[in-house]
Amino acid sequence: MQNILSFLTILALFSCQPDTSIDQKVDDIIKQMTTAEKVGQMTQIDHRFLDDHEDITDYAIGSLLSGGGSHPKENTHKAWVDLYNGYQEKALASRLGIPLIYGIDAVHGHNNVKGATIYPHNIGLGATGNPEIVRSVSHATSSEVAATGINWTFAPCIATPQDYRWGRTYEGFSSDPKLVLDLGVAAVEGYQSSTKKNPRKVIACAKHFIGDGNTIYGTGINNLVDRGNTVLTKESLKKTLIPVYQAAIDAGVETVMASYNSWNGVKCHGSKELLTDILKVEMGFDGFVISDWAGIDEIPGDYKSDIVTSINAGMDMVMVSGEGEPYKKFMALLTEAIQEELIPMSRIDDAVSRILRVKFRAGLFDDPLMDYDYLSEIGSDENRQIGRDAVRQSVVVLKNESILPLSNSNGKVRWSKIVVAGRGADNLGMQCGGWTIDWQGGQGDITDGTTILEGLRENAPLGIEVVSDPLANSVKGDLAIVVIGEDPYTEFFGDRDSLNLNEEDLQVIENAKAQGMKVVVLLISGRPMNIADHFDNWDAFAAIWLPGSEGEGVADVLFGNYNPTGRLSFPWPVHAEEGTSASSMLYNLGAGLSYE
Ligand code: BGC
Ligand code: BGC
Repeated sequence: MQNILSFLTILALFSCQPDTSIDQKVDDIIKQMTTAEKVGQMTQIDHRFLDDHEDITDYAIGSLLSGGGSHPKENTHKAWVDLYNGYQEKALASRLGIPLIYGIDAVHGHNNVKGATIYPHNIGLGATGNPEIVRSVSHATSSEVAATGINWTFAPCIATPQDYRWGRTYEGFSSDPKLVLDLGVAAVEGYQSSTKKNPRKVIACAKHFIGDGNTIYGTGINNLVDRGNTVLTKESLKKTLIPVYQAAIDAGVETVMASYNSWNGVKCHGSKELLTDILKVEMGFDGFVISDWAGIDEIPGDYKSDIVTSINAGMDMVMVSGEGEPYKKFMALLTEAIQEELIPMSRIDDAVSRILRVKFRAGLFDDPLMDYDYLSEIGSDENRQIGRDAVRQSVVVLKNESILPLSNSNGKVRWSKIVVAGRGADNLGMQCGGWTIDWQGGQGDITDGTTILEGLRENAPLGIEVVSDPLANSVKGDLAIVVIGEDPYTEFFGDRDSLNLNEEDLQVIENAKAQGMKVVVLLISGRPMNIADHFDNWDAFAAIWLPGSEGEGVADVLFGNYNPTGRLSFPWPVHAEEGTSASSMLYNLGAGLSYE
Protein backbone atom coordinates (compact mmCIF):
# COMPACT_ATOMS: atom_id res chain seq x y z
CA MET A 1 0.00 0.00 0.00
CA GLN A 2 2.75 2.37 0.98
CA ASN A 3 4.49 1.58 -2.28
CA ILE A 4 1.40 2.43 -4.25
CA LEU A 5 0.99 5.67 -2.33
CA SER A 6 4.55 6.80 -2.90
CA PHE A 7 4.21 5.81 -6.52
CA LEU A 8 1.13 8.00 -6.89
CA THR A 9 2.88 10.92 -5.22
CA ILE A 10 5.70 10.58 -7.66
CA LEU A 11 3.32 10.38 -10.60
CA ALA A 12 1.70 13.54 -9.39
CA LEU A 13 5.09 15.21 -9.13
CA PHE A 14 5.89 14.34 -12.68
CA SER A 15 2.54 15.02 -14.25
CA CYS A 16 3.71 18.20 -15.93
CA GLN A 17 1.74 20.71 -13.88
CA PRO A 18 3.46 23.96 -14.72
CA ASP A 19 5.33 24.79 -11.55
CA THR A 20 5.35 28.58 -11.31
CA SER A 21 7.97 28.64 -8.60
CA ILE A 22 10.35 26.67 -10.84
CA ASP A 23 9.58 28.91 -13.81
CA GLN A 24 10.36 31.93 -11.65
CA LYS A 25 13.69 30.46 -10.54
CA VAL A 26 14.59 29.59 -14.11
CA ASP A 27 13.82 33.14 -15.29
CA ASP A 28 15.95 34.59 -12.52
CA ILE A 29 18.93 32.47 -13.54
CA ILE A 30 18.52 33.17 -17.26
CA LYS A 31 18.62 36.92 -16.53
CA GLN A 32 22.00 36.53 -14.87
CA MET A 33 23.56 34.34 -17.56
CA THR A 34 26.08 35.45 -20.14
CA THR A 35 25.92 34.07 -23.67
CA ALA A 36 28.96 31.93 -22.90
CA GLU A 37 27.20 30.40 -19.90
CA LYS A 38 24.11 29.66 -21.97
CA VAL A 39 26.26 27.98 -24.59
CA GLY A 40 27.91 25.93 -21.83
CA GLN A 41 24.52 24.70 -20.59
CA MET A 42 23.66 23.50 -24.07
CA THR A 43 26.86 21.46 -24.36
CA GLN A 44 27.24 17.80 -23.41
CA ILE A 45 30.63 16.05 -23.40
CA ASP A 46 31.62 12.43 -22.80
CA HIS A 47 33.91 12.67 -19.77
CA ARG A 48 36.54 10.62 -21.64
CA PHE A 49 37.03 13.51 -24.04
CA LEU A 50 37.44 16.34 -21.52
CA ASP A 51 40.72 18.18 -22.25
CA ASP A 52 40.86 19.36 -18.67
CA HIS A 53 38.43 18.93 -15.78
CA GLU A 54 38.68 22.66 -15.13
CA ASP A 55 36.85 23.21 -18.41
CA ILE A 56 33.64 22.24 -16.61
CA THR A 57 34.08 25.26 -14.34
CA ASP A 58 35.57 27.61 -16.90
CA TYR A 59 32.98 26.97 -19.60
CA ALA A 60 30.06 26.33 -17.21
CA ILE A 61 29.37 23.01 -18.97
CA GLY A 62 25.75 21.87 -18.60
CA SER A 63 26.09 18.14 -18.96
CA LEU A 64 28.46 15.20 -19.14
CA LEU A 65 27.76 11.68 -20.27
CA SER A 66 29.18 8.23 -20.14
CA GLY A 67 28.57 6.66 -23.54
CA GLY A 68 28.74 2.91 -24.03
CA GLY A 69 31.90 1.62 -22.34
CA SER A 70 32.71 4.98 -20.76
CA HIS A 71 33.59 4.33 -17.14
CA PRO A 72 36.09 5.31 -14.46
CA LYS A 73 39.58 3.81 -14.86
CA GLU A 74 38.75 1.26 -12.23
CA ASN A 75 35.20 0.14 -12.76
CA THR A 76 34.29 -0.10 -9.07
CA HIS A 77 31.10 1.18 -7.48
CA LYS A 78 32.93 3.62 -5.28
CA ALA A 79 34.91 4.95 -8.25
CA TRP A 80 31.65 5.81 -10.00
CA VAL A 81 30.50 7.96 -7.09
CA ASP A 82 33.91 9.64 -6.95
CA LEU A 83 33.83 10.28 -10.69
CA TYR A 84 30.36 11.80 -10.50
CA ASN A 85 31.14 13.96 -7.45
CA GLY A 86 34.46 15.11 -8.86
CA TYR A 87 32.81 16.50 -11.96
CA GLN A 88 29.79 17.86 -10.10
CA GLU A 89 32.06 19.81 -7.76
CA LYS A 90 33.68 21.43 -10.79
CA ALA A 91 30.26 22.54 -12.02
CA LEU A 92 29.26 23.88 -8.62
CA ALA A 93 32.46 25.94 -8.62
CA SER A 94 31.41 27.82 -11.76
CA ARG A 95 30.22 31.43 -11.43
CA LEU A 96 26.52 30.54 -11.15
CA GLY A 97 27.08 27.07 -9.71
CA ILE A 98 24.52 25.39 -11.94
CA PRO A 99 24.76 21.63 -11.34
CA LEU A 100 25.53 19.17 -14.13
CA ILE A 101 22.99 16.69 -15.34
CA TYR A 102 24.95 13.47 -15.93
CA GLY A 103 23.64 11.05 -18.56
CA ILE A 104 24.36 7.39 -19.20
CA ASP A 105 23.07 4.56 -21.35
CA ALA A 106 21.49 2.46 -18.63
CA VAL A 107 19.44 0.64 -21.24
CA HIS A 108 19.21 -2.81 -19.61
CA GLY A 109 20.26 -2.17 -16.07
CA HIS A 110 23.14 0.15 -15.13
CA ASN A 111 25.08 -1.63 -17.82
CA ASN A 112 28.38 0.27 -17.86
CA VAL A 113 28.94 -0.61 -14.22
CA LYS A 114 30.71 -3.84 -13.31
CA GLY A 115 28.57 -5.85 -10.91
CA ALA A 116 25.30 -4.11 -11.72
CA THR A 117 22.25 -6.23 -12.46
CA ILE A 118 21.91 -6.70 -16.22
CA TYR A 119 18.29 -7.06 -17.29
CA PRO A 120 16.97 -8.51 -20.55
CA HIS A 121 17.22 -6.17 -23.52
CA ASN A 122 13.92 -4.64 -24.56
CA ILE A 123 13.10 -7.36 -27.07
CA GLY A 124 12.95 -9.80 -24.14
CA LEU A 125 10.91 -7.42 -22.02
CA GLY A 126 8.56 -7.06 -24.99
CA ALA A 127 8.04 -10.83 -24.97
CA THR A 128 6.84 -10.63 -21.37
CA GLY A 129 4.02 -8.38 -22.60
CA ASN A 130 3.88 -7.27 -18.98
CA PRO A 131 4.01 -3.58 -18.04
CA GLU A 132 4.39 -4.48 -14.35
CA ILE A 133 7.68 -6.30 -14.84
CA VAL A 134 8.92 -3.52 -17.14
CA ARG A 135 8.07 -1.01 -14.43
CA SER A 136 9.94 -3.05 -11.80
CA VAL A 137 12.99 -3.55 -14.01
CA SER A 138 13.15 0.16 -14.86
CA HIS A 139 12.68 1.17 -11.26
CA ALA A 140 15.40 -1.21 -10.09
CA THR A 141 17.68 0.11 -12.84
CA SER A 142 17.20 3.68 -11.75
CA SER A 143 17.88 2.74 -8.14
CA GLU A 144 21.25 1.36 -9.28
CA VAL A 145 21.89 4.45 -11.43
CA ALA A 146 20.98 6.82 -8.61
CA ALA A 147 23.30 4.94 -6.25
CA THR A 148 26.25 6.10 -8.36
CA GLY A 149 24.99 9.69 -8.33
CA ILE A 150 24.02 9.69 -11.99
CA ASN A 151 20.71 11.35 -12.70
CA TRP A 152 19.78 10.65 -16.29
CA THR A 153 19.42 7.49 -18.35
CA PHE A 154 19.14 7.47 -22.14
CA ALA A 155 16.22 5.05 -21.97
CA PRO A 156 13.69 3.79 -22.88
CA CYS A 157 14.22 3.21 -26.57
CA ILE A 158 10.67 3.21 -27.91
CA ALA A 159 11.48 2.26 -31.48
CA THR A 160 9.20 -0.15 -33.32
CA PRO A 161 11.71 -2.08 -35.46
CA GLN A 162 10.39 -3.57 -38.69
CA ASP A 163 13.54 -4.75 -40.50
CA TYR A 164 15.40 -7.37 -38.47
CA ARG A 165 18.61 -6.76 -40.39
CA TRP A 166 18.85 -3.64 -38.20
CA GLY A 167 21.45 -4.05 -35.45
CA ARG A 168 19.21 -2.25 -32.96
CA THR A 169 16.17 -4.48 -33.34
CA TYR A 170 16.69 -5.77 -29.79
CA GLU A 171 16.49 -2.26 -28.34
CA GLY A 172 12.80 -2.16 -29.28
CA PHE A 173 10.08 -3.82 -27.21
CA SER A 174 8.04 -4.83 -30.22
CA SER A 175 7.27 -4.19 -33.87
CA ASP A 176 3.75 -3.34 -32.74
CA PRO A 177 3.37 0.31 -31.67
CA LYS A 178 0.50 -0.56 -29.31
CA LEU A 179 2.69 -2.83 -27.20
CA VAL A 180 5.61 -0.38 -27.38
CA LEU A 181 3.29 2.33 -26.07
CA ASP A 182 2.20 0.30 -23.03
CA LEU A 183 5.68 -0.87 -22.14
CA GLY A 184 7.24 2.51 -22.92
CA VAL A 185 4.92 4.22 -20.45
CA ALA A 186 5.71 1.60 -17.80
CA ALA A 187 9.43 2.14 -18.39
CA VAL A 188 9.20 5.92 -18.11
CA GLU A 189 7.20 5.63 -14.90
CA GLY A 190 9.59 3.04 -13.51
CA TYR A 191 12.75 5.00 -14.31
CA GLN A 192 11.46 8.33 -13.07
CA SER A 193 9.96 7.10 -9.81
CA SER A 194 12.32 7.57 -6.92
CA THR A 195 12.38 5.14 -4.05
CA LYS A 196 12.09 5.84 -0.37
CA LYS A 197 15.46 4.15 0.00
CA ASN A 198 17.20 6.71 -2.18
CA PRO A 199 15.20 9.85 -2.74
CA ARG A 200 17.27 10.98 -5.72
CA LYS A 201 15.49 11.10 -9.03
CA VAL A 202 16.61 9.69 -12.33
CA ILE A 203 15.36 11.32 -15.51
CA ALA A 204 14.32 9.15 -18.46
CA CYS A 205 14.83 9.81 -22.17
CA ALA A 206 12.45 8.61 -24.87
CA LYS A 207 14.51 7.81 -27.96
CA HIS A 208 15.12 8.07 -30.87
CA PHE A 209 12.70 10.63 -32.20
CA ILE A 210 11.47 9.46 -34.67
CA GLY A 211 11.27 6.56 -37.09
CA ASP A 212 14.56 4.92 -36.01
CA GLY A 213 13.02 1.46 -36.44
CA ASN A 214 11.45 2.15 -39.82
CA THR A 215 14.42 2.99 -42.02
CA ILE A 216 14.69 1.45 -45.46
CA TYR A 217 17.36 -1.17 -46.07
CA GLY A 218 20.16 0.24 -48.20
CA THR A 219 19.76 3.84 -47.05
CA GLY A 220 21.80 3.61 -43.83
CA ILE A 221 25.44 3.50 -42.77
CA ASN A 222 27.42 1.06 -44.98
CA ASN A 223 24.35 0.95 -47.25
CA LEU A 224 22.50 -1.01 -44.62
CA VAL A 225 19.78 -0.06 -42.14
CA ASP A 226 21.04 1.96 -39.16
CA ARG A 227 20.67 5.75 -39.48
CA GLY A 228 18.91 5.41 -42.83
CA ASN A 229 15.83 7.08 -44.28
CA THR A 230 12.29 6.49 -43.02
CA VAL A 231 9.54 7.11 -45.52
CA LEU A 232 6.17 7.71 -43.91
CA THR A 233 3.49 10.30 -44.54
CA LYS A 234 2.72 12.68 -41.71
CA GLU A 235 -0.67 10.96 -41.38
CA SER A 236 0.83 7.52 -40.90
CA LEU A 237 3.43 8.93 -38.50
CA LYS A 238 0.56 10.37 -36.50
CA LYS A 239 -1.30 7.08 -36.50
CA THR A 240 1.62 4.84 -35.58
CA LEU A 241 4.70 6.37 -33.94
CA ILE A 242 3.53 9.73 -32.59
CA PRO A 243 1.02 8.18 -30.15
CA VAL A 244 3.87 6.19 -28.56
CA TYR A 245 5.81 9.40 -27.87
CA GLN A 246 2.68 11.23 -26.81
CA ALA A 247 2.04 8.56 -24.21
CA ALA A 248 5.62 8.82 -22.94
CA ILE A 249 5.25 12.60 -22.69
CA ASP A 250 1.95 12.25 -20.88
CA ALA A 251 3.68 9.85 -18.49
CA GLY A 252 6.11 12.68 -17.71
CA VAL A 253 9.23 11.83 -19.68
CA GLU A 254 11.59 14.76 -19.16
CA THR A 255 13.86 14.38 -22.19
CA VAL A 256 13.62 13.17 -25.79
CA MET A 257 16.60 12.19 -27.95
CA ALA A 258 16.58 13.07 -31.63
CA SER A 259 17.23 10.21 -34.02
CA TYR A 260 20.13 9.75 -36.43
CA ASN A 261 17.79 8.73 -39.22
CA SER A 262 16.08 10.91 -41.78
CA TRP A 263 12.36 11.32 -42.20
CA ASN A 264 11.40 11.55 -45.86
CA GLY A 265 14.95 12.55 -46.72
CA VAL A 266 15.43 15.16 -43.97
CA LYS A 267 17.70 14.38 -40.99
CA CYS A 268 15.57 14.39 -37.81
CA HIS A 269 18.36 16.37 -36.11
CA GLY A 270 17.69 19.27 -38.45
CA SER A 271 13.93 19.07 -38.77
CA LYS A 272 12.06 22.02 -37.30
CA GLU A 273 8.82 20.36 -38.30
CA LEU A 274 9.62 17.37 -36.07
CA LEU A 275 11.46 18.92 -33.14
CA THR A 276 9.46 22.12 -32.77
CA ASP A 277 6.17 22.04 -34.67
CA ILE A 278 5.22 18.47 -33.83
CA LEU A 279 7.09 17.58 -30.62
CA LYS A 280 7.02 20.84 -28.70
CA VAL A 281 4.00 22.66 -30.09
CA GLU A 282 1.51 19.99 -31.15
CA MET A 283 2.47 17.38 -28.56
CA GLY A 284 3.11 19.83 -25.73
CA PHE A 285 6.55 18.51 -24.72
CA ASP A 286 8.04 20.90 -22.14
CA GLY A 287 11.23 19.03 -21.27
CA PHE A 288 14.36 19.25 -23.43
CA VAL A 289 15.57 17.65 -26.64
CA ILE A 290 19.06 16.14 -26.64
CA SER A 291 20.90 15.28 -29.84
CA ASP A 292 22.34 11.85 -30.39
CA TRP A 293 26.13 11.30 -30.21
CA ALA A 294 27.59 13.73 -32.79
CA GLY A 295 24.18 13.46 -34.43
CA ILE A 296 24.11 17.03 -35.72
CA ASP A 297 27.32 16.33 -37.66
CA GLU A 298 25.31 14.24 -40.10
CA ILE A 299 23.18 17.17 -41.25
CA PRO A 300 24.38 18.19 -44.73
CA GLY A 301 26.69 21.25 -44.73
CA ASP A 302 29.67 22.33 -42.65
CA TYR A 303 29.79 22.08 -38.87
CA LYS A 304 28.69 25.63 -38.24
CA SER A 305 25.64 25.20 -40.45
CA ASP A 306 24.88 21.91 -38.66
CA ILE A 307 24.83 23.84 -35.39
CA VAL A 308 22.63 26.62 -36.76
CA THR A 309 20.20 24.24 -38.44
CA SER A 310 19.82 21.92 -35.45
CA ILE A 311 19.44 24.61 -32.78
CA ASN A 312 16.98 26.55 -34.91
CA ALA A 313 15.09 23.29 -35.51
CA GLY A 314 14.60 22.95 -31.75
CA MET A 315 17.62 21.05 -30.44
CA ASP A 316 18.17 22.13 -26.84
CA MET A 317 21.32 20.29 -25.82
CA VAL A 318 23.96 18.86 -28.14
CA MET A 319 25.73 15.59 -27.34
CA VAL A 320 28.93 16.90 -28.88
CA SER A 321 30.67 14.02 -27.22
CA GLY A 322 34.09 15.43 -28.15
CA GLU A 323 35.12 12.24 -29.92
CA GLY A 324 34.91 13.85 -33.36
CA GLU A 325 34.51 17.62 -33.40
CA PRO A 326 36.24 19.24 -30.38
CA TYR A 327 33.75 20.66 -27.90
CA LYS A 328 35.58 23.98 -27.78
CA LYS A 329 35.00 24.30 -31.50
CA PHE A 330 31.31 23.57 -30.97
CA MET A 331 31.03 26.26 -28.30
CA ALA A 332 32.98 28.82 -30.34
CA LEU A 333 30.85 28.27 -33.44
CA LEU A 334 27.59 28.35 -31.48
CA THR A 335 28.67 31.62 -29.86
CA GLU A 336 29.61 33.04 -33.24
CA ALA A 337 26.23 32.03 -34.71
CA ILE A 338 24.44 33.78 -31.86
CA GLN A 339 26.50 36.94 -32.29
CA GLU A 340 25.79 36.93 -36.02
CA GLU A 341 22.09 36.51 -35.20
CA LEU A 342 21.92 33.30 -37.19
CA ILE A 343 20.19 31.90 -34.10
CA PRO A 344 17.87 34.24 -32.20
CA MET A 345 18.53 34.75 -28.48
CA SER A 346 14.90 33.80 -27.82
CA ARG A 347 15.68 30.28 -29.13
CA ILE A 348 18.77 30.05 -26.91
CA ASP A 349 16.80 31.20 -23.87
CA ASP A 350 14.09 28.67 -24.62
CA ALA A 351 16.68 25.87 -24.83
CA VAL A 352 18.42 26.87 -21.62
CA SER A 353 15.11 27.35 -19.78
CA ARG A 354 14.08 23.83 -20.71
CA ILE A 355 17.38 22.42 -19.48
CA LEU A 356 17.23 24.33 -16.19
CA ARG A 357 13.59 23.39 -15.65
CA VAL A 358 14.46 19.71 -15.91
CA LYS A 359 17.41 20.17 -13.57
CA PHE A 360 15.07 21.75 -11.02
CA ARG A 361 12.48 19.03 -11.42
CA ALA A 362 15.19 16.42 -10.95
CA GLY A 363 16.06 18.02 -7.63
CA LEU A 364 19.62 18.72 -8.75
CA PHE A 365 19.78 22.19 -7.30
CA ASP A 366 18.79 20.85 -3.87
CA ASP A 367 20.98 17.81 -3.75
CA PRO A 368 23.72 17.71 -6.37
CA LEU A 369 26.32 15.53 -4.64
CA MET A 370 26.21 11.85 -3.77
CA ASP A 371 27.40 9.81 -0.82
CA TYR A 372 28.25 6.11 -0.67
CA ASP A 373 25.09 5.19 1.23
CA TYR A 374 23.25 3.36 -1.51
CA LEU A 375 26.02 1.38 -3.17
CA SER A 376 24.55 -1.86 -1.85
CA GLU A 377 21.66 -1.28 -4.29
CA ILE A 378 24.00 -2.16 -7.16
CA GLY A 379 23.54 -5.79 -8.08
CA SER A 380 21.53 -6.39 -4.89
CA ASP A 381 19.77 -9.71 -4.33
CA GLU A 382 16.44 -7.94 -4.61
CA ASN A 383 17.32 -6.41 -7.98
CA ARG A 384 18.72 -9.70 -9.28
CA GLN A 385 15.52 -11.43 -8.25
CA ILE A 386 13.60 -8.93 -10.40
CA GLY A 387 15.99 -9.81 -13.22
CA ARG A 388 15.39 -13.54 -12.80
CA ASP A 389 11.66 -12.95 -12.84
CA ALA A 390 11.94 -10.81 -16.01
CA VAL A 391 14.02 -13.52 -17.69
CA ARG A 392 11.55 -16.30 -17.02
CA GLN A 393 8.69 -14.17 -18.28
CA SER A 394 10.66 -13.37 -21.45
CA VAL A 395 11.42 -16.91 -22.61
CA VAL A 396 9.23 -17.84 -25.59
CA VAL A 397 8.78 -21.57 -26.08
CA LEU A 398 7.98 -22.09 -29.74
CA LYS A 399 8.28 -25.83 -30.18
CA ASN A 400 7.82 -28.63 -27.68
CA GLU A 401 7.51 -32.26 -28.74
CA SER A 402 6.54 -33.40 -25.24
CA ILE A 403 10.04 -32.66 -23.98
CA LEU A 404 9.52 -29.71 -21.65
CA PRO A 405 9.35 -29.25 -18.75
CA LEU A 406 12.45 -31.24 -17.92
CA SER A 407 11.23 -32.68 -14.68
CA ASN A 408 11.03 -36.20 -13.40
CA SER A 409 7.45 -36.07 -12.30
CA ASN A 410 5.32 -38.67 -10.55
CA GLY A 411 8.36 -40.67 -9.62
CA LYS A 412 8.99 -41.29 -13.33
CA VAL A 413 12.59 -40.70 -14.35
CA ARG A 414 12.64 -39.27 -17.88
CA TRP A 415 16.05 -37.63 -17.80
CA SER A 416 18.83 -38.65 -15.52
CA LYS A 417 21.62 -36.98 -17.45
CA ILE A 418 21.30 -33.69 -19.32
CA VAL A 419 24.18 -32.49 -21.47
CA VAL A 420 24.52 -28.71 -21.82
CA ALA A 421 26.34 -27.53 -24.94
CA GLY A 422 26.84 -24.59 -27.28
CA ARG A 423 28.79 -21.32 -27.28
CA GLY A 424 26.07 -19.57 -25.34
CA ALA A 425 25.75 -22.08 -22.51
CA ASP A 426 28.38 -20.72 -20.17
CA ASN A 427 28.95 -17.26 -21.61
CA LEU A 428 27.75 -14.30 -19.60
CA GLY A 429 28.92 -11.80 -22.22
CA MET A 430 26.96 -13.49 -24.97
CA GLN A 431 23.76 -13.74 -22.94
CA CYS A 432 24.03 -10.03 -22.03
CA GLY A 433 24.62 -8.82 -25.61
CA GLY A 434 25.64 -5.29 -26.63
CA TRP A 435 25.62 -2.30 -24.27
CA THR A 436 27.20 -4.35 -21.48
CA ILE A 437 30.34 -3.01 -19.76
CA ASP A 438 31.63 -2.05 -23.21
CA TRP A 439 29.70 -0.37 -25.98
CA GLN A 440 29.80 -3.53 -28.12
CA GLY A 441 29.51 -5.92 -25.16
CA GLY A 442 31.98 -8.79 -24.79
CA GLN A 443 32.48 -12.53 -24.36
CA GLY A 444 32.70 -14.59 -21.19
CA ASP A 445 33.02 -13.30 -17.64
CA ILE A 446 32.66 -9.59 -18.31
CA THR A 447 30.68 -8.95 -15.10
CA ASP A 448 28.92 -10.76 -12.25
CA GLY A 449 25.97 -12.99 -12.91
CA THR A 450 24.73 -16.50 -13.49
CA THR A 451 25.23 -18.20 -16.83
CA ILE A 452 22.56 -20.44 -18.30
CA LEU A 453 24.65 -23.50 -17.48
CA GLU A 454 25.11 -22.36 -13.87
CA GLY A 455 21.39 -21.68 -13.59
CA LEU A 456 20.61 -25.19 -14.83
CA ARG A 457 23.13 -26.77 -12.48
CA GLU A 458 21.88 -24.88 -9.46
CA ASN A 459 18.23 -25.60 -10.12
CA ALA A 460 18.19 -29.15 -11.46
CA PRO A 461 15.55 -31.26 -9.75
CA LEU A 462 16.66 -34.19 -7.66
CA GLY A 463 17.78 -37.09 -9.83
CA ILE A 464 18.84 -34.98 -12.83
CA GLU A 465 22.54 -34.64 -13.46
CA VAL A 466 23.65 -31.64 -15.53
CA VAL A 467 26.90 -32.11 -17.46
CA SER A 468 28.74 -29.58 -19.57
CA ASP A 469 30.06 -30.67 -22.95
CA PRO A 470 30.52 -27.57 -25.11
CA LEU A 471 30.64 -29.37 -28.47
CA ALA A 472 28.19 -32.14 -27.50
CA ASN A 473 30.59 -34.72 -28.88
CA SER A 474 32.08 -36.43 -25.87
CA VAL A 475 29.38 -37.10 -23.29
CA LYS A 476 26.24 -39.10 -24.00
CA GLY A 477 23.19 -38.09 -22.01
CA ASP A 478 19.44 -38.56 -22.34
CA LEU A 479 18.99 -35.10 -23.71
CA ALA A 480 21.07 -32.12 -24.81
CA ILE A 481 20.35 -28.46 -24.26
CA VAL A 482 22.22 -26.57 -26.96
CA VAL A 483 22.56 -22.83 -26.48
CA ILE A 484 23.28 -21.12 -29.78
CA GLY A 485 23.07 -17.58 -31.04
CA GLU A 486 24.50 -14.24 -31.99
CA ASP A 487 27.73 -12.71 -30.73
CA PRO A 488 27.25 -9.33 -29.03
CA TYR A 489 26.91 -6.20 -31.14
CA THR A 490 25.59 -2.67 -30.81
CA GLU A 491 24.07 -0.26 -33.33
CA PHE A 492 25.35 -0.43 -36.94
CA PHE A 493 27.91 -3.08 -35.93
CA GLY A 494 24.92 -5.42 -35.81
CA ASP A 495 23.47 -4.54 -39.21
CA ARG A 496 23.45 -7.74 -41.31
CA ASP A 497 22.31 -8.67 -44.75
CA SER A 498 21.87 -12.31 -43.74
CA LEU A 499 20.29 -13.65 -40.57
CA ASN A 500 21.46 -17.23 -40.96
CA LEU A 501 22.45 -19.24 -37.92
CA ASN A 502 26.11 -19.74 -37.13
CA GLU A 503 27.60 -22.85 -38.79
CA GLU A 504 29.55 -23.88 -35.66
CA ASP A 505 26.32 -23.76 -33.68
CA LEU A 506 24.54 -25.99 -36.18
CA GLN A 507 27.41 -28.46 -35.96
CA VAL A 508 26.97 -28.73 -32.18
CA ILE A 509 23.29 -29.56 -32.68
CA GLU A 510 24.31 -32.17 -35.26
CA ASN A 511 26.82 -33.65 -32.80
CA ALA A 512 24.12 -34.04 -30.15
CA LYS A 513 21.75 -35.63 -32.64
CA ALA A 514 24.46 -37.97 -33.92
CA GLN A 515 24.80 -39.31 -30.38
CA GLY A 516 21.11 -40.11 -30.34
CA MET A 517 20.13 -37.45 -27.85
CA LYS A 518 16.91 -35.46 -27.87
CA VAL A 519 17.76 -31.81 -28.41
CA VAL A 520 16.39 -28.64 -26.85
CA VAL A 521 17.66 -25.59 -28.71
CA LEU A 522 17.86 -22.23 -26.94
CA LEU A 523 18.55 -19.24 -29.16
CA ILE A 524 20.30 -16.18 -27.74
CA SER A 525 19.58 -13.41 -30.22
CA GLY A 526 18.59 -9.84 -30.68
CA ARG A 527 15.98 -10.73 -33.32
CA PRO A 528 14.24 -13.58 -35.12
CA MET A 529 16.71 -15.56 -37.24
CA ASN A 530 16.60 -18.14 -40.02
CA ILE A 531 15.58 -21.37 -38.30
CA ALA A 532 13.15 -22.71 -40.92
CA ASP A 533 15.67 -25.04 -42.59
CA HIS A 534 16.80 -26.53 -39.31
CA PHE A 535 14.15 -26.69 -36.67
CA ASP A 536 12.33 -29.80 -37.89
CA ASN A 537 15.25 -31.60 -36.37
CA TRP A 538 14.87 -29.99 -32.95
CA ASP A 539 12.70 -31.57 -30.26
CA ALA A 540 12.09 -28.34 -28.44
CA PHE A 541 12.97 -24.74 -29.16
CA ALA A 542 12.82 -21.54 -27.17
CA ALA A 543 13.87 -17.99 -28.01
CA ILE A 544 15.58 -16.54 -24.97
CA TRP A 545 16.66 -13.18 -26.54
CA LEU A 546 19.39 -11.37 -24.59
CA PRO A 547 18.47 -12.28 -21.05
CA GLY A 548 21.26 -10.49 -19.17
CA SER A 549 22.98 -11.54 -15.98
CA GLU A 550 20.27 -13.67 -14.38
CA GLY A 551 20.49 -16.94 -16.27
CA GLU A 552 18.50 -18.84 -13.64
CA GLY A 553 15.29 -17.51 -15.17
CA VAL A 554 15.92 -19.81 -18.13
CA ALA A 555 16.25 -22.84 -15.83
CA ASP A 556 12.97 -21.86 -14.15
CA VAL A 557 11.18 -22.34 -17.46
CA LEU A 558 13.01 -25.47 -18.60
CA PHE A 559 12.52 -27.28 -15.30
CA GLY A 560 8.90 -26.23 -15.04
CA ASN A 561 9.25 -24.05 -11.95
CA TYR A 562 7.59 -21.46 -14.13
CA ASN A 563 4.93 -22.21 -16.71
CA PRO A 564 6.04 -20.14 -19.71
CA THR A 565 4.06 -17.01 -20.49
CA GLY A 566 6.44 -15.37 -22.99
CA ARG A 567 4.90 -14.52 -26.36
CA LEU A 568 6.51 -13.16 -29.53
CA SER A 569 6.44 -9.38 -29.66
CA PHE A 570 7.83 -9.57 -33.21
CA PRO A 571 6.43 -11.93 -35.86
CA TRP A 572 8.94 -14.64 -36.92
CA PRO A 573 9.27 -14.94 -40.70
CA VAL A 574 10.39 -17.96 -42.72
CA HIS A 575 13.09 -15.65 -44.10
CA ALA A 576 14.07 -13.43 -41.18
CA GLU A 577 15.59 -10.81 -43.47
CA GLU A 578 12.09 -9.95 -44.67
CA GLY A 579 11.13 -8.67 -41.22
CA THR A 580 7.56 -7.70 -40.48
CA SER A 581 6.70 -7.40 -44.16
CA ALA A 582 7.46 -11.07 -44.88
CA SER A 583 4.90 -12.86 -46.99
CA SER A 584 5.18 -16.07 -44.99
CA MET A 585 5.54 -16.27 -41.25
CA LEU A 586 6.75 -19.24 -39.28
CA TYR A 587 5.18 -17.83 -36.10
CA ASN A 588 2.88 -14.87 -35.80
CA LEU A 589 3.02 -12.03 -33.36
CA GLY A 590 1.78 -13.41 -30.02
CA ALA A 591 2.96 -16.98 -30.64
CA GLY A 592 4.33 -18.93 -27.69
CA LEU A 593 3.51 -22.12 -25.81
CA SER A 594 2.70 -22.82 -22.19
CA TYR A 595 2.77 -26.23 -20.52
CA GLU A 596 -0.45 -28.19 -20.17
C1 BGC B 1 23.13 5.99 -29.58
C2 BGC B 1 22.23 6.42 -28.45
C3 BGC B 1 23.02 6.59 -27.20
C4 BGC B 1 24.16 7.54 -27.42
C5 BGC B 1 25.02 7.76 -26.22
C6 BGC B 1 24.37 6.82 -29.68
O1 BGC B 1 25.29 6.28 -30.58
O2 BGC B 1 22.41 6.05 -30.79
O3 BGC B 1 21.19 5.49 -28.30
O4 BGC B 1 22.18 7.03 -26.17
O5 BGC B 1 24.99 7.03 -28.44
O6 BGC B 1 25.83 6.69 -25.95
C1 BGC C 1 30.35 5.56 -27.51
C2 BGC C 1 28.93 5.14 -27.61
C3 BGC C 1 28.30 5.82 -28.75
C4 BGC C 1 29.08 5.60 -30.02
C5 BGC C 1 28.50 6.34 -31.18
C6 BGC C 1 31.05 5.24 -28.80
O1 BGC C 1 32.39 5.59 -28.73
O2 BGC C 1 30.97 4.98 -26.42
O3 BGC C 1 28.22 5.38 -26.47
O4 BGC C 1 27.00 5.40 -28.88
O5 BGC C 1 30.44 5.89 -29.87
O6 BGC C 1 29.16 6.12 -32.38
